[in-house]
Amino acid sequence: MDIHSQKILILDFGSQYTQLIARRVREARVYCEIHPYNKGLDFIKEFNPKGIILSGGPSSVYDKGAPKIDKKIFGLNIPILGICYGMQLTAKLLGGRVERSKKREYGGAELYVDNAGDLFRGLGMGALQVWMSHGDRVEELPPGFKAIARSDNSALCAMRDGKGKIYGVQFHPEVVHTPKGDRIIKNFLFEICGCSPSWTMRSFIDTAIEDIRSKAGHDRVVCGISGGVDSAVAALLVHKAIGNNLTCIFVDNGVLRKGEADKVEETLKRSFHMNIRRVNASARFLKKLKGVEDPERKRKIIGNEFIRVFQDEARKIKSVKFLAQGTLYPDVIESVSFKGPSATIKSHHNVGGLLKTMKLKLIEPLRELFKDEVRLLGRELGMPEEIIDRQPFPGPGLAIRIIGEVTAKRCDILREADSIVLEEIKKAGLYRKMWQSFAVLLPIKTVGVMGDERTYENTVALRAVDSVDGMTADWVRLPYDVMERISKRVINEVRGVNRVVYDISSKPPSTIEWE
Ligand code: XMP
Repeated sequence: MDIHSQKILILDFGSQYTQLIARRVREARVYCEIHPYNKGLDFIKEFNPKGIILSGGPSSVYDKGAPKIDKKIFGLNIPILGICYGMQLTAKLLGGRVERSKKREYGGAELYVDNAGDLFRGLGMGALQVWMSHGDRVEELPPGFKAIARSDNSALCAMRDGKGKIYGVQFHPEVVHTPKGDRIIKNFLFEICGCSPSWTMRSFIDTAIEDIRSKAGHDRVVCGISGGVDSAVAALLVHKAIGNNLTCIFVDNGVLRKGEADKVEETLKRSFHMNIRRVNASARFLKKLKGVEDPERKRKIIGNEFIRVFQDEARKIKSVKFLAQGTLYPDVIESVSFKGPSATIKSHHNVGGLLKTMKLKLIEPLRELFKDEVRLLGRELGMPEEIIDRQPFPGPGLAIRIIGEVTAKRCDILREADSIVLEEIKKAGLYRKMWQSFAVLLPIKTVGVMGDERTYENTVALRAVDSVDGMTADWVRLPYDVMERISKRVINEVRGVNRVVYDISSKPPSTIEWE
């Protein structure tokens, strides 16, 4: 079966929640894609969705240049759900009245459902908790529409057209603050659009493997692996499709964690017999980093050097035609968004030059997936948990956790300290409970006493943070005994460190990494 035969199209009007809508639809096991609102009618017909969701957005329908869609979309006979701005726009285009408001309604509200059918089926009796975040609101429904829910604040919180094809909700069913929002979205998908929950990882794998095979044929593919989950899962999927026609290149850049390169190589080789070439390029990287203190320069140097090393190695593979990469859906959405790229951090190396000089074509088998779907996929493919559940680790590695110059000696100090931190965090059962936990080597020496001797040694900072997406973060209230064990072990076991401090800054205003 073509798993893309039942697709939902999400048209993005710039809401911060658009990706969440897609998450909820995917969780309901229906495939969906986000596209900018202005893709045009021909695109929509070609896409052939089972239903369309119009996202919220920051604009007012009365703003000059407010994002609009062609009214003909409502005549396509495809079910449509407008959320917030999407509802206001629907109402306005179809002849209703939207009231401009200076005051935003923001926060929780109670929703009273008047029509417990289709969109609100199975939600139980009584008021529903929903999340509001809007300025304007619909004051008069378009002809033929009925109100199907109200709140204390408004009689028109949800609407439905006469045929039961076009719906609008003023609140946000996609956010967690609308506890039964997932059911509302499922009702739209299953009751109104007639979708079935058929988008599963198993079906994804079958389709992806077929795609990779038909694209790559008998040609050779090269893939860079970093030790992170995305590149490992992308490589494994390609490996399942074309076996040893895939060569993975693992560049040891000298700023990896202790034992990391060994562990990843060993795991992928042992469990899957993947063809992995490991390049020890530590000396090359460290030479380039000599004397460099500026973090942005460190990042650039490491990124550029990676491309060079990778290219040197890839050139040794005969008749390589494709480069496989673990690009994820959020990166794809970013690059097609009408808002332009936002400030999220890209962990992918810039491979544009590589593709050009080596005349390679891209294979991106994860480009439809969100991060948690990649983890599901990895598990389905039998990837060990130690790779799937790894905390994020930045591409420039320890280099941006060594404040000041990166030298082989300072790398060794930090590697040892970092490995103790991770060991103790894991022992305490905390590793998977937090976003990141690591050590930072500071460029200051302080005085200490060890035995009868005065010491003058390095300071290590311990960082542990909770976060959902890395954009904001809070420091973890680590148990004192865990902190104590880490501090004792680092000072006793790592030569060159006589002091450990704990970072109690949240993001913003600080950042997660120190550089
Ligand atoms: P900050 O320090 O900006 O980090 O709060 C947010 C998240 O991004 C990771 N990070 C990077 N990842 N290359 C990467 O691949 C980088 O240059 C980079 N800088 C920060 C960081 O580990 C955290 O998860």
